[in-house]
Amino acid sequence: MNQKPGAGRIGAAQMQKNAAERIKGTRQACRRTAGTWQGMAGAAPGFADNAQAAAAPLPPIAPALLGWFAVHRRVLPFRQNPSPYRVWVSEIMLQQTRVSAALPYYERFVAELPTVQALAECDGQRLHKLWEGLGYYSRVRNLQKAARLVMERHGGALPADYNALRALPGIGDYTAGAIASICFGLPVPAVDGNVLRVFSRLYADGRNVLEPAVKKEFAARVLAHQPPGTPGPYNEALMELGALVCLPGGGPLCAECPLASLCRARAQGRQGELPVKTKPKARRIQPITVLAVFSPHGVLLQRRPQKGLLAGLWQPLLAERALTGPEALELLAAQGLGGAIQAGPLPAAKHIFSHIEWQMSGWQYNCPNPPKTLPEGLVWASPAQLQNELALPGAFSAYRAILLQGGPSPCAGAG
Ligand code: ADE
Repeated sequence: MNQKPGAGRIGAAQMQKNAAERIKGTRQACRRTAGTWQGMAGAAPGFADNAQAAAAPLPPIAPALLGWFAVHRRVLPFRQNPSPYRVWVSEIMLQQTRVSAALPYYERFVAELPTVQALAECDGQRLHKLWEGLGYYSRVRNLQKAARLVMERHGGALPADYNALRALPGIGDYTAGAIASICFGLPVPAVDGNVLRVFSRLYADGRNVLEPAVKKEFAARVLAHQPPGTPGPYNEALMELGALVCLPGGGPLCAECPLASLCRARAQGRQGELPVKTKPKARRIQPITVLAVFSPHGVLLQRRPQKGLLAGLWQPLLAERALTGPEALELLAAQGLGGAIQAGPLPAAKHIFSHIEWQMSGWQYNCPNPPKTLPEGLVWASPAQLQNELALPGAFSAYRAILLQGGPSPCAGAG
């Protein structure tokens, strides 16, 4: 509401400037000013590895790239009917999830929530259920927060304005660029991991692509090659090239690449070394003791706190440390479940989050005479409730089948 109409849109003068800078390509670092993108003289100093050579201009890539995309683009549901809402949901889902893995979730999500309004009004529990297994649940919570803001600020239609998109929860530079270019034809870059890989190889640029300043320079290069009339297809073609041909590690399919003759990494035989990324910090190992408790009312589930990892999702009773058998019984007694009888181990399992690794093990229990009431946050869930209503994060997928059985599993040996 407080955004002026068209504010932050790439103006005509800026578009002309961008066009003039296109392919000139020598000294382009990138700076985003009030949501617009512009070239900035002077490559950032101090980068080792062949920065000068990598800064040398390349001939235009768009004609060969767009020709390839016209033939090889995948038929994907969000491309069939690319409304801003559908593209937005797909872009959020595809962060950290491969296209093939995301597709069934995507189809189900947009079938049940076909509009911004439906998403804004969706019950939180149901929303988690629709996202169950995709991980990174803050993505879907932000999606809903943003949908509510789109209802309030923009009358339910995503704005055709880079800045206004960027101001919504969960929408960063990449997502704003993807929606703005694909849905509204705005001349902005959309630089995801695939595009960083393609450009680091094209230019044989050995700088760390996770460095914000380097990312910005890459965005300027991506924009410099963008043809004025087709920003959306150009951006999508780059993502598609990264997803289908310019594959990570030693696996790029250079023989199939429309840009092979221009690719400096290929000429230097360095495809496998690029892109350079700083090593992520070692993950913290977190022992987890899982207690799968069954009663005639169902399996015991516990709602996680509303803040932090897997916020608001459901899990079996657990302790975020390694418990001994007697300690596990004490924990059960503290929940009023002192009558629970141990009925065998759970298999060991692990789950890797971005910053932490859960190493899980535990036991199953029978609780034939459950107390009338449970402490706050605990419920007995029937298999149908667990299947259809309560979102169990993918972290517990090793235990899902056991929890759904409705009673201890005789075959669940320690793994
Ligand atoms: N990854 C994320 N968005 C994509 C898109 N629109 N096309 C191909 N791969 C993608």
